[in-house]
Formats: sequence, structure tokens, C-alpha cells
Amino acid sequence: MQRDPLPRPAAISLDEYRDRRVRLMAALPDNAAVLIPAATLKPRNRDGEYPFRQDSDFHYLSGFPEPDALLLLLPGRAEGETVLFCQPKDPLAEAWTGIRIGAEGAVVRFGVDEAHDNDVRDELLVELLDGRETLCFALDDEEALMIASDVRGALKARVRRGAKPPRSFTDITSVLHEQRLIKSEAELELMRHAGYISALAHRRAMQASRPGLCEYHLQAEIEHEFVWHGARSPAYGTIVGSGVNACVLHYVENNDRLDEGDLVLIDAGGEFDLYAGDITRTFPVNGRFSAAQRQLYQIVLNAQKRAVAAVGPGNTLSAIHDGVVRDLTQGLIELGLLAGDVQACIDDSSYRRFYLHSTSHWLGLDTHDVGDYKQDDVPRPLVPGMVVTIEPGLYIPDADDIPAAFRGIGIRIEDDVIVTVDGGEVTTGAVPKEMDDIEALMAASRSSDHGESVIDG
Ligand code: GLY
Ligand code: MN
Ligand code: MN
Repeated sequence: MQRDPLPRPAAISLDEYRDRRVRLMAALPDNAAVLIPAATLKPRNRDGEYPFRQDSDFHYLSGFPEPDALLLLLPGRAEGETVLFCQPKDPLAEAWTGIRIGAEGAVVRFGVDEAHDNDVRDELLVELLDGRETLCFALDDEEALMIASDVRGALKARVRRGAKPPRSFTDITSVLHEQRLIKSEAELELMRHAGYISALAHRRAMQASRPGLCEYHLQAEIEHEFVWHGARSPAYGTIVGSGVNACVLHYVENNDRLDEGDLVLIDAGGEFDLYAGDITRTFPVNGRFSAAQRQLYQIVLNAQKRAVAAVGPGNTLSAIHDGVVRDLTQGLIELGLLAGDVQACIDDSSYRRFYLHSTSHWLGLDTHDVGDYKQDDVPRPLVPGMVVTIEPGLYIPDADDIPAAFRGIGIRIEDDVIVTVDGGEVTTGAVPKEMDDIEALMAASRSSDHGESVIDG
């Protein structure tokens, strides 16, 4: 079947990148400078590297896509506040590894005030940072720390000639990550797109599933769909866990056979323009839920839908999680998997045998995105522009004291939700989560040969 590409959302504009830098600079102490290194290529084996992924902070402030660059913010500098160092143009190197943007290109195409080749970086940094009292960078970024320490050393060696080395190094991450936590409308558009592509991928996997395939066949369907829609990489390692593998939270082997009668849990999201989608669906390998699977699934689904409905300004992720724990615990008691009353099973943590992880995390350029979860030691209220996941699950051990029908079943249902002014907007709703809808989608694919689908809306 021939398909047309989806319309793609607008890329982040140069004005927005500039605005992000201006806002960050406005939050700095007096006479400070910011240093943000780009990511570097990491060797994978003797003669190859892992696919390059830009550092999220560096990307957020520059949009510059190459490795081995450095962004410098110099608030108040008359000649320009934003300086970028990058790989020099080099025809021979470019013949092997592709065209480099180069310093001139960086100014023209990325809107920085000034750019230089890396060859002159160390010398120029000493000049540019002379007299800046505070250098701000991520203190756990070894490269940034090395650059800042070298500059400070070089300036200390010149104090008799009037140089003024920085007096302190300050962590930039709290300020920068607060900024990243609240997404702009342009970022939300990219995240809606990442959510939609991720949902299409899950639909494709549901439609391709059948007993006898392997978990990696579904991984292939998922990742095919990501790349086809321009989400060139998964946002994290695709998890396809069938049967008891679904109970392993970070299962990535994806190597087992899909067996008749089992469920399969897929946790997978595409990364579009560096923004993550993050979806989990759990469905029957053969397209039909068993009675026991239905009972457990319904408990997780009810908890998940209530939690999604609870997303909105003023609520907290902690309160949403508490609601999920209560709902799941109640369900486990009703099924006879826990005994006693709900509050007692929560107080003594017995529910944790079946639900270990938290319900939500921030989502953005990083799958587990940045930003504090608490302020002054209390859970922070949600505000519009945050993006969160809602992902309750139940993982029933394959143990003798568990009724046989429930043993080794793992179920998680995860959606991505934008906090809006009056509630939440789910970006991942294009893949079904109601059992009847999943069964209908899977049944529809049984009548055609291939798993591609066209959906409304
Ligand atoms: N896929 C990672 C997560 O759901 O948190
Ligand atoms: Mn996930
Ligand atoms: Mn998640």
C-alpha cells in the first residue's frame, strides 16, 4: 500500500532559540558566563561510532546539530552575547563523514552572534572569559568542568598582566532545566507529532502480532514506523516483553518467541526532532484477551484513565500516583491477590509486590525529562506547558502462591499528556487501549496480509 508522508510540524525557529538564550541569561548572577558543550561521538567498535545524538541542553539553546561544538553565553557583551565554537570546514574529512556547517554557516543558519573554529577555541576562550566572575555549566559534565578549569588556570597564570580569573563555578542545570520543563507551543507541536508517530507504531505492532513470531519482529514493526515518519531514532531502547518478560521493567532483549495465549507488553516511543514519545501498550499475542487477562487489564486501565483525567493545573504527580496506588491495590484485593483493607496494604507496602515503579515522569527532549519534582520539599503543582507520562502497571510474579491464571502476567498502559490551562491533552490517543478496541484492530488486520493501517483524524 502506498502512503503519503504526514505533514511535519514546524521546526523550532531561530527566534525561539534566541529567546531561550536571552531568558537563561536573564536568570544568571551578575557578570556570569555559560558554557554548554555539544555531545561527542562515542566509539561503538574499532571503526564505527554509535549514532550521534546531540546533547539536550546544547540543542535546546542552539539547535546546532554537530558534535564537538561549544556554546558560550556572555551576557552584556557588546560584540554579541552568543559565541559558538565548532568543527572547522575540512574538505577531506567532509568527503568521508559529510558536510560540516562551519563557523560561517553557524552564524548564518543558526543565528549565533559569532562563531569560530575549534582550533582557536582554547586561546579565544581565555580572552572571552577574562573578567567573568562566575562560570555556569553542568557541574557533572566532565568536559565542561575541564574547559572551565583550563580557562581558569590560564587566566590565573596571567594575573600579573591584569587578567581576572573566575572566582566560582556554578551549576547551570537548575535554572536551565526549570526553563526546559515548561514547553513552548512550538515544542508542544513537536511532542504531539512524536506522540502520534509513536501511536501509529504501536498500532502497526498490534496488527503484526501472531503466535510464533519473535519479540524482535514487533520491535522491527515499531521502529520501521518511527523511521518511516521521520522519527529517526527510538527515544529509548524499545521494550517488547511477552509472557513473563513483561514483568521485567527494563527488558530489552526482545528475543523470545511470542506464544499463543500470552500477552505482550511494548514500551516504545519515537524521537522526533529530539522530542520523545513514550507509549506502553499491552495486548494479546493472538488478538484475544483471556478472562484472567481481562480482569487484570481492566484494573490497570481504570487506574490509568482516572490518573489521566486527574492531570491538570494544581494537581501533583505525587497525588496522581497515590490515586493509582489506591486503585490498583483495591483491584488486587478484589481479585484475591492481596488480603486485608486497602489502606493497610498501602501502609505495609504489600502492594509493591505488584507495582514497584512510579506513575509519571516529565517528558521532553529527554524521555525522563529534566526539572525538579519537588519544590521546598513538597511535590510541585502541575502548570500548563508541562508534559507528563501516566503509566501504571501490574506485574504478577510467577510464584506458587499466586492463582495459576494470573501468574507471570505483566501489564502496563502508558500515555503522554500535556498539561493545559484546564486539564490535560493526551498526545498518544491514536493507539487504542480499551480491550475491545484492541481486539477489533487486531481482528481487522487478520483479514489483510500486512499490518499497515490508515486511521481517521
Ligand atoms: N520507557 C521508559 C519509561 O516509560 O519510563
Ligand atoms: Mn515508557
Ligand atoms: Mn515513561
